[in-house]
Amino acid sequence: MKIAQFSRTGFIMAAAGSAVGLGNIWKFPYMTGEYGGGAFVLVYLITIFFVGFSVMVAEMLIGALGRRDTVGSFERLAPPDKKGWKYAGFMGFNGLIIMTFYSIVIGWIFYYLFKLLETLPDSTDAAKKTFDNLVTNEAGIQIFWHTVATLIVTYIVYRGIKRGIEKINLILMPALMVILFGMLVYAFNLEGFSKAFSFMFEPDWSRLDSEAIVRAIGHSFFTLSLGMGAIMTYAASLPKNASITKTALIVTLMDTLIALVAGLVIYTFLFQEGSPPTQGPGLVFISLPVVLSNLGYLGTFLALLFFLALSFAGLTSAISLVEPVVQYFIDKFDTTRLKAVFTAGLLYYIVGIGALLSYTNRWGEVFSIGGKPLFDILEYTTDSILLPVGGLLIAIFAGYILQKERVRAALEHEMGKTFFNLWYFSIRYVAPIALVFMMLNLMGVLKI
Ligand code: PFF
Repeated sequence: MKIAQFSRTGFIMAAAGSAVGLGNIWKFPYMTGEYGGGAFVLVYLITIFFVGFSVMVAEMLIGALGRRDTVGSFERLAPPDKKGWKYAGFMGFNGLIIMTFYSIVIGWIFYYLFKLLETLPDSTDAAKKTFDNLVTNEAGIQIFWHTVATLIVTYIVYRGIKRGIEKINLILMPALMVILFGMLVYAFNLEGFSKAFSFMFEPDWSRLDSEAIVRAIGHSFFTLSLGMGAIMTYAASLPKNASITKTALIVTLMDTLIALVAGLVIYTFLFQEGSPPTQGPGLVFISLPVVLSNLGYLGTFLALLFFLALSFAGLTSAISLVEPVVQYFIDKFDTTRLKAVFTAGLLYYIVGIGALLSYTNRWGEVFSIGGKPLFDILEYTTDSILLPVGGLLIAIFAGYILQKERVRAALEHEMGKTFFNLWYFSIRYVAPIALVFMMLNLMGVLKI
């Protein structure tokens, strides 16, 4: 099966569109708040550049050399006696698991976009009520918006690499950047900006515990879309003349920059009004609208822009979460894109309903396991287990299974000798050690 090719800019925007998502604008700011600010940001930045970037290069390399769906690429590249590596390609299915809750959050964002047009809540209590009510009581409304999100995402994927994925990323990514950087310029002139800046960039080491480190490593994978074959699947459509190293660097930088800008914008607004930074997942759904309501019409306008940017970020990542499985179905069963998208969409859509019901008062118990809501289980499993395992497999494959000469031939002319050796060292030792350390820590075997 011949896979369509992106244009060079199209590929950069699609990969950046995958990386820049809810992880940057929703999750990163609230995690920074929960884990104490600057020190967390520093660990995050270090892992992004020393581990994440190397794994991204490896993931792109496997896709660009394999030129198939994830299972096909691993199978094709593995030496004859190691064909079992094809099973690593099933990491593509992680995307559907992520989609079960990702789609729900995109649905919340859509709901907020409409809700904000009416009024912004003027107190934290009111805002909390709106959010809690949506999540715990309004199953019907959530299912409606989850359906809308699913239809949009699957339609774009159905349109394919060129006419769907590339096209939408070329529109939404620049729009997202214009909105966020515009908001940054506005925030820069507010008093809260300097506080936000110190909160994010002055590390307070006493706040950094092992949990914060582990979460920072996990998040660096999530935010770069690594460990589940999204970047690999896109890279199978990498134009032949594109540089893997350069593209991976641009995507990593864009992703990091946008997370930092989103954090600065949100914390400027929050500190401007004296709100505390530690508000968890409700940060952008509860605190931000309240803070902005003090600004009258301007606040409504800013809130709309913000949620619009958030929805763009979510959609462009969501399509990259669905595409790997779709590509797999097409390659494996020689089926049409329509059928492949329908099947993949239906799978995550149904489990997603279970996930959203798991937060409701009425159905919560039915959709919980061991007292934990399905939503949390799915999120925790992917973020903290499946993506790091996927990342580890990618690192091992690129560092130990692929012949070094082949890897060198593909990358050294782009990177130069020294940088190639550094990268190879990182993919063989630094990335696996960081990932194993993180997993052991998670399992509670090793306590720092
Ligand atoms: N990188 C996306 C975000 O930060 O929201 C989430 C994501 C997309 C994770 C695609 C993994 C993936 F393959």
